[in-house]
Amino acid sequence: MSSPPKMQAVRTVDVHQSNVELVDTPKPGQGEILICTKAVTLNPTDWKHVAFISPSGVTVGCDFAGIVEGLGPGVSNGLKKGDRVSGFVHGGKYPNKGSFAEFLTAKAAGVMKIPDALSDAEAASMGIAGETAVQALFQRLNVKAPSSSITSIPQITKDSPKLLVWAGSTSVGQYAIQLGTIAGYYVITTASPKNHKLVKSLGAQEAHDYKDESVPEAISKAHPDLNIALDCISENGTQSFCARSLGTSGGKIAVLLAPDKNARELRNDVQIIHTLIYSSLGDEFSYGKRVYDRAEVATDFEWMKLWLDGDKGLLHHLFAKGLLKSNKIKHMDGGIQSIHEGMKYMRESKVSAEKLAYTISA
Ligand SMILES: NC(=O)c1ccc[n+]([C@@H]2O[C@H](COP(=O)([O-])OP(=O)(O)OC[C@H]3O[C@@H](n4cnc5c(N)ncnc54)[C@H](OP(=O)(O)O)[C@@H]3O)[C@@H](O)[C@H]2O)c1
Repeated sequence: MSSPPKMQAVRTVDVHQSNVELVDTPKPGQGEILICTKAVTLNPTDWKHVAFISPSGVTVGCDFAGIVEGLGPGVSNGLKKGDRVSGFVHGGKYPNKGSFAEFLTAKAAGVMKIPDALSDAEAASMGIAGETAVQALFQRLNVKAPSSSITSIPQITKDSPKLLVWAGSTSVGQYAIQLGTIAGYYVITTASPKNHKLVKSLGAQEAHDYKDESVPEAISKAHPDLNIALDCISENGTQSFCARSLGTSGGKIAVLLAPDKNARELRNDVQIIHTLIYSSLGDEFSYGKRVYDRAEVATDFEWMKLWLDGDKGLLHHLFAKGLLKSNKIKHMDGGIQSIHEGMKYMRESKVSAEKLAYTISA
């Protein structure tokens, strides 16, 4: 199939809403591939962009899985027409870059070739959530990445280095628990009790109820050597819970939303580090007042390339070996025309340990 001149895409319209519109099909630029979108998964950032951030006239959606339809000049990592690939784009920012569309373009070095065992929706769930877990753990918290030839999950004991994943049943948290375990860490996590079985099945050694106010002190007391945490919620006081949970020498907390002043002031032996996954796409951008300049995004892109780059990166290897599992998929009906319903479902906080997925083309 060759790409048609026009395609359907979810675009923002006035008053912070979105509609499906007929727009120009994008063309791949230098180092980019054109992808026919098969499935997309939803992230909180999608509805947040529509509701609060995006101007009108931009394409929404980040996560995707699809088939390579064409190559731009300078694609040199072996990807070819017909390959299945997944990743994410900076949806809600540009007229022609979102994933909630029948076609999209992405940098060839910034996508994963999908291992056969993974469905399109499962692979799409790796995009924002999986890559955020990678960026937060391995780039911001300096967790040592597993070897590229790893074939089994290491034995974890009480003497293994410790990692706290606050809110382990979130989409990001589920990937972080698994990646921390694969890296050899004793993972402590929090989730609603109904999700404790799930987070333990992903590798967590301990699961605590985040609604229990005594949990941070209990974790800190039991693990005086705990010195790194990833806060997968990062609002409504969770950054302070993480700071209170760290051991006697403090340490570092990676957060996914703006650093919280109260948490910063709680302990002077704790460093709070904000991470934002869009920087790994390698394109300069600003987010609120923060400018991500060319040098910074180039570093983050090169860094993430080690995990992607078609079938050369660690993520393909970990999924292909069955060491890493996708989020549990909740298939949603209605295709591209119904994505607004999924965004509403997410905004109403109905998501619990599941990833909403839409089929874009069969
Ligand atoms: N900075 C970045 O680059 C970046 C990237 C990705 C995501 N984010 C942000 O990170 C957050 C999480 O995203 P996500 O897609 O991983 O979330 P998600 O999967 O949509 O989160 C749903 C989960 O949140 C858990 N939860 C809700 N309130 C909680 C609380 N107070 N404490 C602990 N857990 C709580 C629920 O756990 P239970 O069902 O177990 O109760 C539920 O399973 C969002 O705010 C998102 O915008 C930022």
